[in-house]
Amino acid sequence: MRTNIVHIGAGELQYEIRQIVEIGHNVMRLSGKPIAWENIGDPVQKGEKLPDWMKDIIAQAVRDDSTYAYSPTRGLLETREFLAERLNREKGVKIHPDDIIFFNGLGDAVNKVYGMLRREARVIGPTPAYSTHSSAEAAHAGYPPITYRLDPARGWMPDLEELRNKVKYNESIAGIMIINPDNPTGAVFPRDVLEEMVEIARQYDLFLVGDEIYVNMVFNGKKCTNLSEVIREVPGISLKGISKEFPWPGGRCGWMEVYNQASNPMFQKYVKSVLDAKMLEVCSTTLPQVVIPRIMGNPEYVNWQKQRNAFFEKRSKRIAEILSGIPEIIVNPPDGAFYVSIVFKKELNNRMKLNIPNAAVREYIDGICSGNMEPDRRFVYHLLASRNICVVPLTSFVCTLQGFRCTLLERDDAKFEEIYHGVRDAILEFLNSASL
Ligand SMILES: Cc1ncc(COP(=O)(O)O)c(C=O)c1O
Repeated sequence: MRTNIVHIGAGELQYEIRQIVEIGHNVMRLSGKPIAWENIGDPVQKGEKLPDWMKDIIAQAVRDDSTYAYSPTRGLLETREFLAERLNREKGVKIHPDDIIFFNGLGDAVNKVYGMLRREARVIGPTPAYSTHSSAEAAHAGYPPITYRLDPARGWMPDLEELRNKVKYNESIAGIMIINPDNPTGAVFPRDVLEEMVEIARQYDLFLVGDEIYVNMVFNGKKCTNLSEVIREVPGISLKGISKEFPWPGGRCGWMEVYNQASNPMFQKYVKSVLDAKMLEVCSTTLPQVVIPRIMGNPEYVNWQKQRNAFFEKRSKRIAEILSGIPEIIVNPPDGAFYVSIVFKKELNNRMKLNIPNAAVREYIDGICSGNMEPDRRFVYHLLASRNICVVPLTSFVCTLQGFRCTLLERDDAKFEEIYHGVRDAILEFLNSASL
């Protein structure tokens, strides 16, 4: 073409969590056996049932013609008022309903958060990184993501010294992003860690982005401090949603809470540009916004969340038990969200393998496992081929650690046990295979 039509950040768009599905489908076809999809964070796809009272609220709203209409660009006022009032009541944080903007899921919000930033302005985020953030940020800049380390040897706590140094010596860093509770590690960051991050942002005149989609999904006796509770006068954005919490990922509904925009004219202008970008799309989906106050305000809601968190706690504890006693890996049982990231301490190599009994599957996987492939991807492909379990390599989360992410979502106890015992056996077989 006479003009290059490819965006500067086109190469940065990677979403392994879904890209691996194609390979999974091929293995399923060739083996004739179903796959345990441990790659994606969709509780509904993994068999979770929404309670009847919640469905009744949604069903009633569906019968109301007004739920088929456009909504205001920021979102329904009644819902924004409900959320602002709830934040005040529960956390003592005061925001105006106009500080809330609705999006078609946080995927939409994340795109706008980075897409509306000036190209030279960078947002530093954690590694391992959740791809929706790291890819959107990198694509906006046209350069690879800038990251600070979450340390598996310290329960996935952020390396605050590294964060401080990177911020100090890289003037292009305009913001710090944190996911709390975190995807892919399941870590819940304590209040003092968040306070320190806020302090770094304050000291270097940055803004903060907190992805808090899992903020109410915490267990093992942990509490999740909201960004709004510690942010003080620093400009910031929190991203929240219903995809994981109701759970209703197909509803495509999430929102942004903006803190301290009035105190910083440049931040205020940036937030307005995010709102203007949303305005060009008219608005976000109306129906989920209509039901948010009715569902979250329902007396059953708190109990529903407790039940779910108790389930994830049970899964977290059992994973720790099943995977304990393997000295070559690090497993931090998650305290929040519903993922666990397992790290190989022992160096992996491309001679390691698993026995793949089905000849057609073996031929297919051998064909796609190239010599220079990251060894954790090789493990993931072999796990898929040998045991029909689909997980995601850790190196695909902008990460140099070798490992993989799986979920706490499987509802069926027997299937869950089978999956995690399969994972355990595969780790041991893989690690021992090169010395054979
Ligand atoms: C940390 C985090 N943020 C955002 C999302 C996407 O949320 P939504 O369904 O609202 O687009 C996910 C989905 O897995 C997530 O893990």
